[in-house]
Amino acid sequence: RDPSLRVSALGLTFPSPIGLAAGLDKDGIAVPALCALGFGCVEVGTITAQPQPGNPRPRLFRLLRDRALVNRMGFNNRGAADARARLSRLPRQRAPLGINIGKTKLVENANALEDYAQSAAQLGPYADYLVINVSSPNTPGLRDLQAIETLRPLLLRVRQVLDAARPDKRVPLLLKIAPDLADADIDAVAELALELHLDGIIATNTTIGRAGLVTSTEEVEAAGAGGLSGPPLQARALAVLSRLHARVGERVLLIAAGGIETVDDVWERLRAGATLVQIYTALVYEGPLLPSRLANQL
Ligand code: FNR
Repeated sequence: RDPSLRVSALGLTFPSPIGLAAGLDKDGIAVPALCALGFGCVEVGTITAQPQPGNPRPRLFRLLRDRALVNRMGFNNRGAADARARLSRLPRQRAPLGINIGKTKLVENANALEDYAQSAAQLGPYADYLVINVSSPNTPGLRDLQAIETLRPLLLRVRQVLDAARPDKRVPLLLKIAPDLADADIDAVAELALELHLDGIIATNTTIGRAGLVTSTEEVEAAGAGGLSGPPLQARALAVLSRLHARVGERVLLIAAGGIETVDDVWERLRAGATLVQIYTALVYEGPLLPSRLANQL
């Protein structure tokens, strides 16, 4: 609770820059407990407009020797209406609440805009900030929405819906991107963010790459398809962050995620231009004391 850790960003006060990344609390069922662990921010989701079961199990694997995870959860969640009912009754917590939304699997990409718009309308009023997730590898075609031609109308529409749902207050809107984008595409996203006055970018989601692993090829193949997270993602996630920062500077808030485990990792991202960081995989390996330990060390 040291005031020196406090961060003012997005018009909010974060008690520490170390937050929980999306995907652990898909439905927003454990927000007070997660805040009590000492996270400076909790991002729930990904939530989709319609409830859906996600992919068949097994769908989550540990690559122990890499302290990494492979997951193909596939946005298992109870849907936006269910989350709205719960989050609308949630008392204000000591850490800001981010809500991350994605596309319902059964909805075609051609109709993605309205799917996101529905979720934004339902959940926007209860979010301290809202994240558009177009970067999960586990919903077929989702990452195609990162192309500028589809991204522009999507961001514009969700902004419009948010403003209508919450006329008293501008809810910050962020975009979460994949580490697998080509550098030219990262630059295009940065340009678009500036053009549309996007509030922030979260870099990054999990990777479909399998480079740099010490886990045996057989074991990696046995896990199968999905997004890789943890330390093997670190270098690329940092490179994407630095690239974005070189282009947007302080004009767009940057939140770093991907392979952050130690306080040095946190510091490295803050120095590379992130205002906030997020963690998921390290929490799985280190346990629930990790956020408070990192905050103490920071
Ligand atoms: C995720 N992640 C994720 N991201 C997101 O935007 N929506 C989601 O639903 C999920 N689901 C999810 C499930 C599991 C099991 C994992 C491991 C990850 C991605 C996560 O938020 C983060 O961006 C990456 O995992 C990189 O950070 P770490 O895990 O290396 O700290």
